[in-house]
Amino acid sequence: MLDARGVTLRFGGVIALADVSIVVAQGELVGLIGPNGAGKTTLLNAISGLHRLQSGSIEFDGRTITGLPPYKIAKLGIARTFQVVRPFATLTVRENVAVGAMFSGARTLGRAEALVRAVAALEQVGLSAKATYLPSHLTMSDRKRLELARALAMRPKLLLLDEVAAGLNQTEIVSMIEIVRSLNQTGQTIIMVEHVMKAILSLCQRIVVLQFGKKIAEGTPQAVVSDPNVINAYLGARFAKRHALAIG
Ligand SMILES: Nc1ncnc2c1ncn2[C@@H]1O[C@H](COP(=O)(O)OP(=O)(O)OP(=O)(O)O)[C@@H](O)[C@H]1O
Ligand SMILES: [Mg+2]
Repeated sequence: MLDARGVTLRFGGVIALADVSIVVAQGELVGLIGPNGAGKTTLLNAISGLHRLQSGSIEFDGRTITGLPPYKIAKLGIARTFQVVRPFATLTVRENVAVGAMFSGARTLGRAEALVRAVAALEQVGLSAKATYLPSHLTMSDRKRLELARALAMRPKLLLLDEVAAGLNQTEIVSMIEIVRSLNQTGQTIIMVEHVMKAILSLCQRIVVLQFGKKIAEGTPQAVVSDPNVINAYLGARFAKRHALAIG
């Protein structure tokens, strides 16, 4: 479904992505991990068209999307959540989600149809009871759900998640994991950027690891977390020890 090859992106002197390739098949849930500043968000931005590549190419659903503007890429079926959630403050939760629905897909939806979609998306993330709230009245956890619902209302073929579990407590993390799991189980293809390893390990079929803009590892969760390069670059020895104990 997604085939990004040799993606290279610089910000002035900073090489944010250096020759990164990532392939995602339909129905897969792929994790993207790595230290702060590794280029994870930049890779999601590159896929969704927010940054121009210095070199490399991105194919989605059999067509080249390199260089297309973000709205066109969204219309082709790629939706993403943002690491920093910024809903429209004067719109209700349901209206915020409806805005996402309106401008997705081949045609622009009317208000009524967009609201119906919003209701369905809020259901998927367990936020129906707060549909008429203003975003300022939501907890961090609910704001993350709102952000997810906004992307889901676009009915994307590929969903890009940027740290949907960040800032949540243990109970909230568990419910977010269950939401993402059920999305994937109903066929949603997902790339998930996340520092919460519990979420990554319990959800992902495959993990890609970035460090300083380079792909340093890729494989099954088990293979990746026991890779010495990944332990040195990101996870740390304590994590490795705990994990080794946990999997016996
Ligand atoms: N718009 C920008 N302009 C200049 N530099 C940027 C920009 N966006 C990102 N960078 C730089 O690119 C590098 C990669 O940043 P990115 O935000 O992709 O990291 P990340 O892996 O998402 O990190 P985190 O885990 O902290 O979210 C960093 O050095 C960052 O400072
Ligand atoms: Mg980031």
